[in-house]
Amino acid sequence: MINISILGYGTIGSGVFQVLKENCQIIAERTGEEIKVKSILDLRDFPGDVAEGIIVHDFKEIDNDSSIQIVVETMGGLHPAYEFVKASLEKGRSVCTSNKALVAAFGPELLKIAEEKKCNFLFEASVGGGIPIIRPLKSSIAPDVVEQISGILNGTTNYILTEMTENGTDFETVLKDAQAKGYAEKDPTADIEGHDACRKIAILTSLAYGHQVDFEDIYTEGITKITNRDINYAKKLGAKIKIFGSSKKQGEKVSAMVAPGLVTATHPLYSVDGVFNAILVRGNMAGDIMFYGQGAGKLATASAVVSDIMEAAKHPGINIKTIWDDKKLELVPFEESTSKFFVRVSGTKAENEAKVSEEFGSVTPVDAGYADEYAFVTGEITEGAYIKAEEKLGNIINKIRFN
Ligand code: HSE
Repeated sequence: MINISILGYGTIGSGVFQVLKENCQIIAERTGEEIKVKSILDLRDFPGDVAEGIIVHDFKEIDNDSSIQIVVETMGGLHPAYEFVKASLEKGRSVCTSNKALVAAFGPELLKIAEEKKCNFLFEASVGGGIPIIRPLKSSIAPDVVEQISGILNGTTNYILTEMTENGTDFETVLKDAQAKGYAEKDPTADIEGHDACRKIAILTSLAYGHQVDFEDIYTEGITKITNRDINYAKKLGAKIKIFGSSKKQGEKVSAMVAPGLVTATHPLYSVDGVFNAILVRGNMAGDIMFYGQGAGKLATASAVVSDIMEAAKHPGINIKTIWDDKKLELVPFEESTSKFFVRVSGTKAENEAKVSEEFGSVTPVDAGYADEYAFVTGEITEGAYIKAEEKLGNIINKIRFN
């Protein structure tokens, strides 16, 4: 029997408890051990709840309980999650977490402690909720050089963009509807500004290349500027607009970005709609591999956490090597990364055509029936060249990169 403690009895923590309870038999068979939740840390009491009798309010009770072998961190936030996780690893207890903020900020340090103490720091649920992506990156794709990762990593924004595309609804209305349905947080900033996806691509890129990518160093653009006109232009181009977290190997460096992008019907991520997430990984040997599923949700995310608990339980006293050190991965300077851009400028075609070709060279016009603006697609240019052209033109309404 393996005794575990759960830190935080919120949505994910209670989901972990439920998955372990409902699937206890197959989990025990597949692990070779029964897994027992001995204690749950939460500030609240849960009268009448199935877990009522094992709730504790002081982390010391768990820290001092020598029978605990695995600690599950589902509290969220950086502090005190970091302190509790660190203390647990230092005692040689494996830790399984769903906390992407913690992993993105302290991944290398916590992995190093786990290695020294011959235990494991596992975080499958921190990216893509129920989608297996961390373990495949660490093991299944391990023989390959990862050439590219491109992910729809946020369900809230994918839902909003899908609704805008399918129903012609504007951003603010869909956001309000998503909040009412519980798909979007009351404060949706982290999702709609791309911060959530940014932490996720930082984790995936760090794991793919073995060195630390600080999320603050990743250029991040949210979806708040996307309008129905943009969606209609995308349709004219046979494309959809989605927000991507992506990274790409360019020589010895890696480029990384979070931004809305256009994808046409032949792209594997084109059909990933609604709250679903998907991650496309290109290995230099395996080629394109796509992971698709629920990027959030209580039981889907809890299932990923439980898969880590089982992994930890199957490796007592053994550290499963994870290559991710604290040396900074060298990123391609943002100005040097290249894209093809869809651009809209105010004013008629006649007013803009000559100036646009002067700044962008040869472009392909796109007509979606708006006489008061001129839209076009550039060739592959650097971000630096785009910024210069934007400054010179001075009348750009919006731009979206092709993915
Ligand atoms: N808020 C996130 C999303 C879920 O909408 O995908 C947790 O990462």
